[in-house]
Formats: sequence, structure tokens, C-alpha cells
Amino acid sequence: MLHRTNVLSRSLTRSFASSPGKSPTAIVMMNMGGPETVAETHDFLKNLFLDGDLIPLPFQRFLAPYIARRRTPQIEQQYTDIGGGSPILRYTRLQGEGMARLLDELHPATAPHKAYVAFRYVRPLTVETAREMKADGVKRAIAFTQYPQYSCSTTGSSLNELFRRGKAGELDLDIEWSVIDRWGTHPGFIEAVAQNIEKALAKFPIETRHETVVLFSAHSLPMSVVNRGDPYILEVAASVSAVMDRLKHSNPYRLVWQSQVGPSAWMGMQTGAALKGLARLGKKQVVIVPIAFTSDHIETLYEIDLEYAKEAREHGIEVHRAESLNESPVFIRALADIASQHLRDYSSNKRPVSVQLGLRCPGCTNATCGHQKAWLAKGGRQ
Ligand code: FES
Repeated sequence: MLHRTNVLSRSLTRSFASSPGKSPTAIVMMNMGGPETVAETHDFLKNLFLDGDLIPLPFQRFLAPYIARRRTPQIEQQYTDIGGGSPILRYTRLQGEGMARLLDELHPATAPHKAYVAFRYVRPLTVETAREMKADGVKRAIAFTQYPQYSCSTTGSSLNELFRRGKAGELDLDIEWSVIDRWGTHPGFIEAVAQNIEKALAKFPIETRHETVVLFSAHSLPMSVVNRGDPYILEVAASVSAVMDRLKHSNPYRLVWQSQVGPSAWMGMQTGAALKGLARLGKKQVVIVPIAFTSDHIETLYEIDLEYAKEAREHGIEVHRAESLNESPVFIRALADIASQHLRDYSSNKRPVSVQLGLRCPGCTNATCGHQKAWLAKGGRQ
């Protein structure tokens, strides 16, 4: 993999060298991020619990550090168990560099393209990315969410942060911004997921393969978020439906939800409970599919691989997980295709945001969402 990364880096360097003096078109890959080392776990959790767009807490500035401190030992152990940290930065960089290289060919009018990473809870944070973009002389940028399906808790939170940094004067005021806010049914994304499911299904004997249950698992949301009109549940369901169409409905399937925390009500059914239920129904073969993550992180490597799959095996189920998209060339091409289509659309209609992004959740009471949408509709200008 190191070799491939070096090849991509060399290619990216060539791309800059061939366009002397031209500032890059920035593709800012937004995601939550994860601690690269176990030692970064506490700061990651503190930033996460401080995010009122994700988890609104009473007395947030005081309660968030307290909750983070309490949860740190357990989560540190989980990162230790998956090898000492989250691989999300490594994969995001690799995906971004591959995407930028392809984009130079697909959309030469805006070349060179350069991928930047802006994480919400760990470095590189938006403010650090903004400094890097300033040093590169960036004048045109796309905020490209790396969450395929839109939720105000994830993409919305990253866009609110971008808006806040802009208002605080931490972004270059001359940058013209546009947004790719969702792409959960893009054919390249669907193809990449479907191929990984097919590889997992191939691990079962051919005679019984068709009986294998395909269990799509996505990060759950609190029902308070669902009930204010967040579009995520619908969009994840649309991804699942598109993947099953691509697979020609070869297998029975369900969509279930993982990673609930705390005592409040969350979207169900829960992944762990679903596996137990399938065992009770006599199902012996399951493929678990992470449908809302684009690379491995703790929810796949720890929760699915070390918790759910282990429990399922104890219940007599043979279980395999569809690989995350990580280094999938089909997926990297999909990212480049999504970005080049966006650049083409933007050059013809100059609309910085999608029609759908302009609509707040009917139950939204977060004023920042409204300000953010108005700001982005003007391309991130005052
Ligand atoms: Fe969805 Fe504010 S919570 S727009």
C-alpha cells in the first residue's frame, strides 16, 4: 500500500508541476475523523461531546469534558484492540489523492486539484486545513462530505463548523465555496459496495449462498433527531435499495442500526439484537455490510468485527463482513466522478449548494443551520 501511496503522491506532485503558478482547486474531504493514536482518544471524545450540533447537552462546556474523561479508558482500550488507533486519516488521504489525480484528467479546466482533509473532532481540524489552503493560495474550494448520506448530526455539523470558522475570519475571504452534500445513490458508490458484498458472499458454499442474509448496518441516530425531520434514515434506506437492485435481489436483506449510546431512544432495530433474532429464526449465514462508512474505523473494526460478529458466531451463525471501501479503486473513481460532475454543474449554473441542502429540517431550532445555509448559498461570501 505504501508503494501505491507514493505513486499517487508523485502523480500529484507532477500535476502541480505541470501547472506552474496556478493555485489548486481544493476538494475538502469532510468527516468526523478518529484518533490516530490511543493517546489522542481523550481529545477526540472531548471535541465530540462539545459538538452541540451532534449531541446537544445542558451546560455543554462543563458536562462534555466530564463525560469525555469518564468514557476515555473504555474507548482507549477499544482503539488498542484494533491496533492502536483509527485508520480513517490514512484512508481519507489515500482516497483524496487518488480522486485528485483522476480529477485532473476528468476536469482539466479546474486542474490542478488538491484534496484536503477537514475532520470535525481530531486533527486536521477545519482551522488547520484553512491555514494550509491559504498557504497554497486556494481561491476555489468544494466542501465534499465523506458521509454518503446526509444528516444534520454529521455533514450538517461539519458545514456549521465551516460557517463558524468563516465568520471568525479563519477562512480566506476570497475563496469561492460550493458543497457536495450527499451522494448515497451514486452508481460508483453503489457498485463499490456491491462488489464488496459479492466478495463476502463468495466465502459461503455455493449451495447455500442464496440463503445468506445481507444485513446492512448503519450508525443509528437518536429518535429526537429523526423526529425533527433529519433526512439520514431515508437516504440510508435509498442506498440499501440501490445496492440490492444492483445485486438483483439475490439475497434476503435487512437494514439495522448500530452504535447507540446513553439511555434515550434511538433508531432501531439494533444490529446486535438483529443478529440474535436471526439466530433464533434459524438463520446460519450472514454478511454484515457497513453502508454509511467509507473507510474502516472503530464502528467496523471493533463494534462489528470484535463484538457483533463474535456474538453471532456464539449463536451459531457464520458471519462475514463486507470490506469497507478503504482502497477500492472503484470507490476512488466514484469520488472523482462525483466531484467532476459537481464542477461541471457549477460551471454551468453557478449554484453553490443543492436544492435539498437549502431546506432546514422542519423541526430545526438551531439558528446556526439557517445562517450556514444562507452563507453557503452565497458561496461562503459575506
Ligand atoms: Fe436539520 Fe438544523 S437540525 S437543519
